[in-house]
Amino acid sequence: MELLIKGGKLVDPSNKQNSVKDIYIKDGLIKSVGKDLGETLKKGINAIDAKGLIVAPGFVDLHTHLREPGREDEETIATGTRAAAKGGFTSICCMPNTNPVVDNKSVVDFIKEKARSEGIVKVFPVGAITKGLNGRELAEMADLADAGVVGFSDDGESVMDSRLMRRALEYSKMFDLPLMVHSEDKNLTRDGQINEGYWSTALGLKGMPSQAEEIMVARDISLLSLTGGRIHIAHTSASESVDIIRKAKNDGLKVTCEATPHHLTLNDEYLRNFDTSGKVNPPLRSKKDIEALIEALADGTIDVVATDHAPHTLSEKEKEFDLAPFGVIGLETAFSVLFTELVKKKLLSFSGLIEALSTKPASIIGVKSGIKEGSPADLTVIDEKRKFKVEDFISKSSNSPFKGRELEGKVIYTIVDGKVVFEE
Ligand code: DOR
Repeated sequence: MELLIKGGKLVDPSNKQNSVKDIYIKDGLIKSVGKDLGETLKKGINAIDAKGLIVAPGFVDLHTHLREPGREDEETIATGTRAAAKGGFTSICCMPNTNPVVDNKSVVDFIKEKARSEGIVKVFPVGAITKGLNGRELAEMADLADAGVVGFSDDGESVMDSRLMRRALEYSKMFDLPLMVHSEDKNLTRDGQINEGYWSTALGLKGMPSQAEEIMVARDISLLSLTGGRIHIAHTSASESVDIIRKAKNDGLKVTCEATPHHLTLNDEYLRNFDTSGKVNPPLRSKKDIEALIEALADGTIDVVATDHAPHTLSEKEKEFDLAPFGVIGLETAFSVLFTELVKKKLLSFSGLIEALSTKPASIIGVKSGIKEGSPADLTVIDEKRKFKVEDFISKSSNSPFKGRELEGKVIYTIVDGKVVFEE
Protein backbone atom coordinates (compact mmCIF):
# COMPACT_ATOMS: atom_id res chain seq x y z
CA MET A 1 0.00 0.00 0.00
CA GLU A 2 1.31 3.41 -0.97
CA LEU A 3 0.31 6.90 0.11
CA LEU A 4 1.65 10.34 -0.68
CA ILE A 5 1.05 13.27 1.64
CA LYS A 6 1.61 16.30 -0.53
CA GLY A 7 2.71 19.78 0.41
CA GLY A 8 1.97 19.86 4.13
CA LYS A 9 4.09 21.82 6.58
CA LEU A 10 5.99 19.18 8.55
CA VAL A 11 6.45 19.93 12.24
CA ASP A 12 8.72 17.52 14.07
CA PRO A 13 11.43 19.23 16.15
CA SER A 14 13.03 15.90 17.08
CA ASN A 15 13.90 15.39 13.40
CA LYS A 16 14.46 19.07 12.64
CA GLN A 17 11.45 19.14 10.33
CA ASN A 18 9.90 22.57 10.00
CA SER A 19 9.12 23.19 6.33
CA VAL A 20 6.79 22.29 3.49
CA LYS A 21 7.57 18.82 2.12
CA ASP A 22 5.99 15.63 0.82
CA ILE A 23 5.95 12.30 2.63
CA TYR A 24 5.92 9.07 0.65
CA ILE A 25 4.64 6.03 2.52
CA LYS A 26 4.98 2.42 1.47
CA ASP A 27 4.02 -0.75 3.36
CA GLY A 28 3.26 1.17 6.53
CA LEU A 29 6.62 2.95 6.71
CA ILE A 30 7.83 6.41 5.78
CA LYS A 31 9.91 5.71 2.68
CA SER A 32 11.01 9.23 1.88
CA VAL A 33 10.59 12.82 2.96
CA GLY A 34 11.38 15.63 0.54
CA LYS A 35 10.26 18.31 -1.85
CA ASP A 36 8.00 17.49 -4.81
CA LEU A 37 8.24 13.72 -4.36
CA GLY A 38 5.06 13.31 -6.42
CA GLU A 39 6.91 14.15 -9.61
CA THR A 40 9.22 11.16 -9.33
CA LEU A 41 6.47 8.69 -8.41
CA LYS A 42 4.28 6.76 -10.80
CA LYS A 43 0.87 8.28 -11.58
CA GLY A 44 -2.34 7.24 -9.81
CA ILE A 45 -0.85 6.77 -6.36
CA ASN A 46 -3.19 7.52 -3.43
CA ALA A 47 -2.54 11.07 -2.28
CA ILE A 48 -3.63 13.47 0.43
CA ASP A 49 -3.42 17.13 -0.46
CA ALA A 50 -2.02 18.69 2.72
CA LYS A 51 -1.48 22.16 1.30
CA GLY A 52 -2.06 24.69 4.09
CA LEU A 53 -2.12 21.92 6.68
CA ILE A 54 0.36 20.79 9.34
CA VAL A 55 1.74 17.26 9.32
CA ALA A 56 2.98 16.08 12.72
CA PRO A 57 4.18 12.79 14.16
CA GLY A 58 1.19 10.77 15.39
CA PHE A 59 0.12 11.67 18.91
CA VAL A 60 0.84 9.19 21.68
CA ASP A 61 -1.28 9.17 24.83
CA LEU A 62 0.42 7.67 27.87
CA HIS A 63 -2.80 7.71 29.91
CA THR A 64 -6.10 6.37 28.55
CA HIS A 65 -8.82 4.41 30.33
CA LEU A 66 -10.38 2.09 27.77
CA ARG A 67 -12.60 0.38 30.40
CA GLU A 68 -12.57 -2.95 28.58
CA PRO A 69 -12.74 -5.54 30.08
CA GLY A 70 -15.45 -4.84 32.63
CA ARG A 71 -17.08 -1.49 31.96
CA GLU A 72 -18.04 -1.68 28.32
CA ASP A 73 -21.00 0.60 29.07
CA GLU A 74 -18.49 3.44 29.61
CA GLU A 75 -16.03 2.67 26.78
CA THR A 76 -14.71 -0.20 24.71
CA ILE A 77 -11.49 -0.80 22.85
CA ALA A 78 -13.46 -0.22 19.63
CA THR A 79 -14.95 3.15 20.71
CA GLY A 80 -11.92 4.35 22.69
CA THR A 81 -9.54 3.81 19.78
CA ARG A 82 -11.96 5.64 17.46
CA ALA A 83 -12.12 8.55 19.88
CA ALA A 84 -8.31 8.49 19.96
CA ALA A 85 -8.08 8.56 16.16
CA LYS A 86 -10.43 11.56 16.05
CA GLY A 87 -8.10 13.37 18.45
CA GLY A 88 -5.01 12.60 16.34
CA PHE A 89 -3.70 9.83 18.58
CA THR A 90 -2.05 6.97 16.74
CA SER A 91 -0.96 5.16 19.91
CA ILE A 92 -2.53 4.99 23.35
CA CYS A 93 -1.48 3.36 26.61
CA CYS A 94 -4.42 1.85 28.46
CA MET A 95 -4.55 1.89 32.23
CA PRO A 96 -4.98 -1.32 34.22
CA ASN A 97 -7.94 -0.35 36.45
CA THR A 98 -10.31 -2.54 34.47
CA ASN A 99 -12.34 -5.48 35.73
CA PRO A 100 -10.48 -7.81 35.92
CA VAL A 101 -7.44 -5.64 36.65
CA VAL A 102 -4.50 -5.95 34.25
CA ASP A 103 -2.36 -7.75 36.84
CA ASN A 104 -1.56 -10.92 34.90
CA LYS A 105 -0.61 -12.03 31.43
CA SER A 106 -4.04 -13.28 30.35
CA VAL A 107 -5.65 -9.83 30.66
CA VAL A 108 -2.80 -8.27 28.66
CA ASP A 109 -3.28 -10.93 25.99
CA PHE A 110 -7.04 -10.25 25.93
CA ILE A 111 -6.54 -6.49 25.44
CA LYS A 112 -3.92 -6.98 22.75
CA GLU A 113 -6.11 -9.43 20.87
CA LYS A 114 -9.18 -7.16 21.08
CA ALA A 115 -7.08 -4.18 19.99
CA ARG A 116 -5.87 -6.16 17.00
CA SER A 117 -9.36 -7.21 15.95
CA GLU A 118 -11.47 -4.19 16.95
CA GLY A 119 -9.09 -1.27 17.54
CA ILE A 120 -8.02 1.24 14.93
CA VAL A 121 -4.98 2.78 16.65
CA LYS A 122 -2.08 1.09 18.44
CA VAL A 123 -2.88 0.04 21.99
CA PHE A 124 -0.12 -0.46 24.57
CA PRO A 125 -1.34 -1.97 27.85
CA VAL A 126 0.03 -0.76 31.19
CA GLY A 127 0.23 -3.46 33.88
CA ALA A 128 -0.76 -3.06 37.53
CA ILE A 129 1.88 -2.56 40.22
CA THR A 130 -0.11 -4.51 42.81
CA LYS A 131 -2.55 -7.40 42.53
CA GLY A 132 -6.08 -6.11 42.02
CA LEU A 133 -4.63 -2.62 42.72
CA ASN A 134 -4.82 -3.65 46.39
CA GLY A 135 -1.61 -1.86 47.41
CA ARG A 136 -0.50 -4.87 49.46
CA GLU A 137 1.04 -7.46 47.16
CA LEU A 138 3.01 -6.97 43.94
CA ALA A 139 1.39 -8.09 40.70
CA GLU A 140 3.14 -10.64 38.49
CA MET A 141 5.43 -7.93 37.18
CA ALA A 142 7.81 -10.26 35.33
CA ASP A 143 4.88 -12.02 33.64
CA LEU A 144 3.37 -8.66 32.70
CA ALA A 145 6.68 -7.44 31.29
CA ASP A 146 6.93 -10.66 29.34
CA ALA A 147 3.41 -10.14 27.97
CA GLY A 148 4.52 -6.73 26.64
CA VAL A 149 3.26 -4.04 29.01
CA VAL A 150 4.96 -0.67 28.52
CA GLY A 151 4.93 0.33 32.19
CA PHE A 152 3.29 -0.33 35.54
CA SER A 153 0.68 1.73 37.35
CA ASP A 154 -1.95 1.45 40.08
CA ASP A 155 -3.65 4.50 38.54
CA GLY A 156 -6.66 5.63 40.53
CA GLU A 157 -4.95 4.15 43.59
CA SER A 158 -1.68 4.97 45.30
CA VAL A 159 0.89 2.48 46.53
CA MET A 160 0.85 3.81 50.07
CA ASP A 161 3.31 1.22 51.44
CA SER A 162 6.80 2.66 50.84
CA ARG A 163 8.51 -0.71 51.26
CA LEU A 164 6.30 -2.22 48.54
CA MET A 165 6.95 0.79 46.32
CA ARG A 166 10.68 0.25 46.78
CA ARG A 167 10.31 -3.38 45.67
CA ALA A 168 8.18 -2.33 42.68
CA LEU A 169 10.90 0.08 41.62
CA GLU A 170 13.56 -2.60 41.95
CA TYR A 171 11.54 -5.00 39.81
CA SER A 172 10.58 -2.47 37.16
CA LYS A 173 14.25 -1.52 36.88
CA MET A 174 15.07 -5.10 35.86
CA PHE A 175 12.74 -4.71 32.87
CA ASP A 176 13.69 -1.09 32.20
CA LEU A 177 10.02 -0.12 32.36
CA PRO A 178 8.68 3.03 34.05
CA LEU A 179 6.40 3.06 37.07
CA MET A 180 3.62 5.44 36.01
CA VAL A 181 2.59 6.64 39.41
CA HIS A 182 -0.66 8.08 40.68
CA SER A 183 0.64 10.32 43.45
CA GLU A 184 -1.93 10.73 46.19
CA ASP A 185 -1.60 10.33 49.93
CA LYS A 186 -4.96 8.63 50.37
CA ASN A 187 -5.06 9.40 54.10
CA LEU A 188 -4.96 13.11 53.35
CA THR A 189 -7.59 13.01 50.61
CA ARG A 190 -10.08 10.65 52.27
CA ASP A 191 -13.69 11.65 51.35
CA GLY A 192 -12.30 14.63 49.43
CA GLN A 193 -14.23 15.90 46.42
CA ILE A 194 -12.33 18.90 45.04
CA ASN A 195 -9.13 20.86 45.58
CA GLU A 196 -8.80 22.17 49.13
CA GLY A 197 -9.00 25.95 49.02
CA TYR A 198 -11.44 28.81 48.63
CA TRP A 199 -13.86 26.86 46.43
CA SER A 200 -14.05 23.77 48.64
CA THR A 201 -15.00 26.06 51.53
CA ALA A 202 -17.42 28.15 49.47
CA LEU A 203 -19.18 25.09 48.04
CA GLY A 204 -19.13 23.11 51.28
CA LEU A 205 -17.29 20.19 49.67
CA LYS A 206 -14.51 18.28 51.40
CA GLY A 207 -11.12 19.34 50.10
CA MET A 208 -8.11 17.41 48.80
CA PRO A 209 -4.96 19.41 49.57
CA SER A 210 -2.25 19.62 46.94
CA GLN A 211 0.14 18.43 49.66
CA ALA A 212 -1.38 14.95 49.18
CA GLU A 213 0.26 14.91 45.75
CA GLU A 214 3.43 16.71 46.80
CA ILE A 215 4.14 14.22 49.60
CA MET A 216 3.90 11.19 47.31
CA VAL A 217 5.91 12.79 44.51
CA ALA A 218 8.63 13.60 47.07
CA ARG A 219 8.51 10.08 48.51
CA ASP A 220 8.74 8.37 45.13
CA ILE A 221 11.60 10.56 43.99
CA SER A 222 13.39 9.85 47.24
CA LEU A 223 12.90 6.10 46.69
CA LEU A 224 14.12 6.50 43.12
CA SER A 225 17.41 7.91 44.41
CA LEU A 226 17.71 4.78 46.57
CA THR A 227 16.85 2.14 43.98
CA GLY A 228 17.41 3.61 40.54
CA GLY A 229 14.85 2.74 37.88
CA ARG A 230 12.40 5.05 36.18
CA ILE A 231 9.40 6.96 37.44
CA HIS A 232 6.81 8.71 35.34
CA ILE A 233 4.53 10.95 37.41
CA ALA A 234 0.98 10.75 36.06
CA HIS A 235 -1.41 13.72 35.89
CA THR A 236 0.78 16.25 37.72
CA SER A 237 -1.51 18.95 39.07
CA ALA A 238 0.20 20.92 41.85
CA SER A 239 2.87 23.63 41.70
CA GLU A 240 4.71 22.02 44.64
CA SER A 241 5.05 18.76 42.66
CA VAL A 242 6.52 20.68 39.74
CA ASP A 243 9.22 22.19 41.99
CA ILE A 244 10.22 18.76 43.30
CA ILE A 245 10.30 17.22 39.82
CA ARG A 246 12.40 20.11 38.48
CA LYS A 247 14.96 19.60 41.23
CA ALA A 248 15.01 15.81 40.71
CA LYS A 249 15.67 16.31 37.00
CA ASN A 250 18.49 18.73 37.80
CA ASP A 251 19.91 16.07 40.13
CA GLY A 252 19.98 13.65 37.18
CA LEU A 253 17.25 11.27 38.38
CA LYS A 254 15.26 9.36 35.78
CA VAL A 255 11.94 11.03 36.35
CA THR A 256 9.48 12.13 33.68
CA CYS A 257 5.99 13.52 34.10
CA GLU A 258 2.78 14.41 32.34
CA ALA A 259 0.05 17.02 32.72
CA THR A 260 -3.46 16.82 31.32
CA PRO A 261 -5.27 19.39 29.17
CA HIS A 262 -7.84 19.92 31.95
CA HIS A 263 -5.25 20.59 34.65
CA LEU A 264 -3.40 22.94 32.29
CA THR A 265 -6.47 25.03 31.46
CA LEU A 266 -9.19 24.78 34.12
CA ASN A 267 -9.12 25.78 37.77
CA ASP A 268 -11.36 24.76 40.65
CA GLU A 269 -13.69 27.69 40.04
CA TYR A 270 -15.06 25.58 37.17
CA LEU A 271 -16.92 23.59 39.84
CA ARG A 272 -18.86 26.58 41.21
CA ASN A 273 -22.05 25.18 39.62
CA PHE A 274 -21.37 21.65 40.87
CA ASP A 275 -20.81 20.46 37.28
CA THR A 276 -19.60 16.87 37.79
CA SER A 277 -17.98 16.78 34.34
CA GLY A 278 -15.12 18.67 36.02
CA LYS A 279 -14.89 16.26 38.94
CA VAL A 280 -11.57 14.54 38.53
CA ASN A 281 -8.73 13.10 40.54
CA PRO A 282 -6.31 14.78 41.07
CA PRO A 283 -8.77 17.66 41.30
CA LEU A 284 -8.70 20.84 39.24
CA ARG A 285 -6.38 23.10 41.23
CA SER A 286 -5.85 26.86 41.59
CA LYS A 287 -4.79 29.53 39.09
CA LYS A 288 -1.32 29.50 40.69
CA ASP A 289 -1.00 25.77 39.99
CA ILE A 290 -2.04 26.24 36.36
CA GLU A 291 0.61 28.93 35.89
CA ALA A 292 3.27 26.62 37.33
CA LEU A 293 2.16 23.73 35.10
CA ILE A 294 2.24 25.85 31.94
CA GLU A 295 5.67 27.25 32.79
CA ALA A 296 6.92 23.71 33.44
CA LEU A 297 5.50 22.41 30.17
CA ALA A 298 7.16 25.26 28.31
CA ASP A 299 10.57 24.70 29.95
CA GLY A 300 10.43 20.91 29.57
CA THR A 301 10.09 20.04 33.26
CA ILE A 302 6.73 18.57 32.31
CA ASP A 303 7.71 16.25 29.49
CA VAL A 304 4.38 15.36 27.98
CA VAL A 305 0.69 16.01 27.74
CA ALA A 306 -1.45 12.97 28.51
CA THR A 307 -5.23 12.92 28.48
CA ASP A 308 -6.24 10.72 31.44
CA HIS A 309 -9.28 9.99 29.27
CA ALA A 310 -11.61 8.56 31.95
CA PRO A 311 -15.09 7.82 30.57
CA HIS A 312 -18.10 7.57 32.89
CA THR A 313 -21.73 7.21 31.84
CA LEU A 314 -24.27 10.00 32.07
CA SER A 315 -26.24 8.23 34.79
CA GLU A 316 -23.09 7.91 36.93
CA LYS A 317 -22.09 11.54 36.42
CA GLU A 318 -25.60 12.91 36.92
CA LYS A 319 -25.55 12.01 40.59
CA GLU A 320 -25.07 14.47 43.44
CA PHE A 321 -21.56 15.87 43.38
CA ASP A 322 -20.10 13.73 46.14
CA LEU A 323 -21.62 10.52 44.72
CA ALA A 324 -20.41 11.04 41.13
CA PRO A 325 -17.20 9.26 40.06
CA PHE A 326 -13.93 11.08 39.33
CA GLY A 327 -12.86 11.38 35.70
CA VAL A 328 -13.12 13.40 32.49
CA ILE A 329 -12.75 12.33 28.87
CA GLY A 330 -10.02 13.98 26.83
CA LEU A 331 -8.90 12.13 23.71
CA GLU A 332 -11.06 14.05 21.25
CA THR A 333 -10.32 17.54 22.55
CA ALA A 334 -6.72 17.43 23.87
CA PHE A 335 -4.95 19.01 20.90
CA SER A 336 -7.59 21.66 20.18
CA VAL A 337 -7.93 22.71 23.83
CA LEU A 338 -4.18 23.22 24.21
CA PHE A 339 -3.77 24.84 20.81
CA THR A 340 -6.56 27.31 21.61
CA GLU A 341 -5.68 27.99 25.24
CA LEU A 342 -1.87 27.81 25.24
CA VAL A 343 -0.46 28.14 21.72
CA LYS A 344 -2.84 30.85 20.46
CA LYS A 345 -2.31 32.78 23.69
CA LYS A 346 1.47 32.48 23.23
CA LEU A 347 2.01 30.58 26.45
CA LEU A 348 3.52 27.58 24.63
CA SER A 349 5.15 27.19 21.22
CA PHE A 350 3.36 25.15 18.58
CA SER A 351 6.35 22.85 18.17
CA GLY A 352 6.53 22.44 21.96
CA LEU A 353 2.92 21.25 21.98
CA ILE A 354 3.54 18.82 19.12
CA GLU A 355 6.60 17.34 20.84
CA ALA A 356 4.73 16.98 24.14
CA LEU A 357 1.95 15.10 22.35
CA SER A 358 4.02 12.89 20.06
CA THR A 359 7.75 12.13 20.05
CA LYS A 360 8.34 12.79 23.76
CA PRO A 361 5.67 10.37 25.03
CA ALA A 362 6.77 7.85 22.40
CA SER A 363 10.32 7.93 23.75
CA ILE A 364 9.10 7.33 27.34
CA ILE A 365 7.55 4.00 26.32
CA GLY A 366 10.25 3.20 23.75
CA VAL A 367 8.00 3.40 20.70
CA LYS A 368 9.46 4.46 17.36
CA SER A 369 8.05 7.77 16.18
CA GLY A 370 8.86 10.89 14.20
CA ILE A 371 8.90 12.03 10.59
CA LYS A 372 11.92 10.28 9.19
CA GLU A 373 12.67 7.57 6.68
CA GLY A 374 12.14 4.10 8.08
CA SER A 375 9.76 5.18 10.87
CA PRO A 376 6.24 3.77 11.06
CA ALA A 377 3.90 6.03 9.08
CA ASP A 378 1.99 7.22 12.15
CA LEU A 379 1.00 10.81 11.38
CA THR A 380 -1.47 13.48 12.39
CA VAL A 381 -2.62 16.12 9.93
CA ILE A 382 -3.92 19.35 11.45
CA ASP A 383 -5.78 22.41 10.20
CA GLU A 384 -4.60 25.26 12.46
CA LYS A 385 -7.31 27.58 11.19
CA ARG A 386 -10.36 25.36 11.58
CA LYS A 387 -12.78 26.63 14.23
CA PHE A 388 -15.44 24.38 15.73
CA LYS A 389 -17.69 23.86 18.70
CA VAL A 390 -17.19 20.82 20.93
CA GLU A 391 -20.46 18.95 20.54
CA ASP A 392 -20.50 15.30 19.58
CA PHE A 393 -18.24 12.63 20.93
CA ILE A 394 -17.25 9.32 19.41
CA SER A 395 -16.45 8.07 22.92
CA LYS A 396 -19.30 6.15 24.57
CA SER A 397 -19.20 8.78 27.33
CA SER A 398 -19.46 12.54 27.19
CA ASN A 399 -18.13 13.65 30.59
CA SER A 400 -16.10 16.51 29.19
CA PRO A 401 -15.68 19.90 30.86
CA PHE A 402 -15.03 21.33 27.39
CA LYS A 403 -18.48 20.52 25.99
CA GLY A 404 -19.93 23.56 24.23
CA ARG A 405 -16.57 25.33 23.97
CA GLU A 406 -15.52 27.08 20.74
CA LEU A 407 -12.04 25.85 19.84
CA GLU A 408 -9.51 26.49 17.12
CA GLY A 409 -7.19 24.00 15.42
CA LYS A 410 -8.49 20.58 14.46
CA VAL A 411 -7.17 17.19 13.50
CA ILE A 412 -8.17 16.46 9.90
CA TYR A 413 -6.51 13.10 9.24
CA THR A 414 -5.00 10.46 11.48
CA ILE A 415 -2.79 7.89 9.81
CA VAL A 416 -1.61 4.66 11.45
CA ASP A 417 0.97 2.50 9.68
CA GLY A 418 0.18 4.33 6.46
CA LYS A 419 -3.58 3.74 6.72
CA VAL A 420 -6.04 6.63 7.14
CA VAL A 421 -8.00 5.73 10.30
CA PHE A 422 -9.71 9.11 10.73
CA GLU A 423 -10.73 11.66 8.16
CA GLU A 424 -12.64 14.82 9.02
O1 DOR B 1 -10.29 11.12 37.78
C1 DOR B 1 -9.77 10.01 37.65
N1 DOR B 1 -10.44 9.01 37.05
N2 DOR B 1 -8.56 9.81 38.14
C2 DOR B 1 -7.99 8.60 38.16
O2 DOR B 1 -6.87 8.48 38.59
C3 DOR B 1 -8.74 7.41 37.69
C4 DOR B 1 -9.79 7.80 36.70
C5 DOR B 1 -10.79 6.74 36.39
O3 DOR B 1 -10.39 5.58 36.19
O4 DOR B 1 -11.96 7.04 36.28
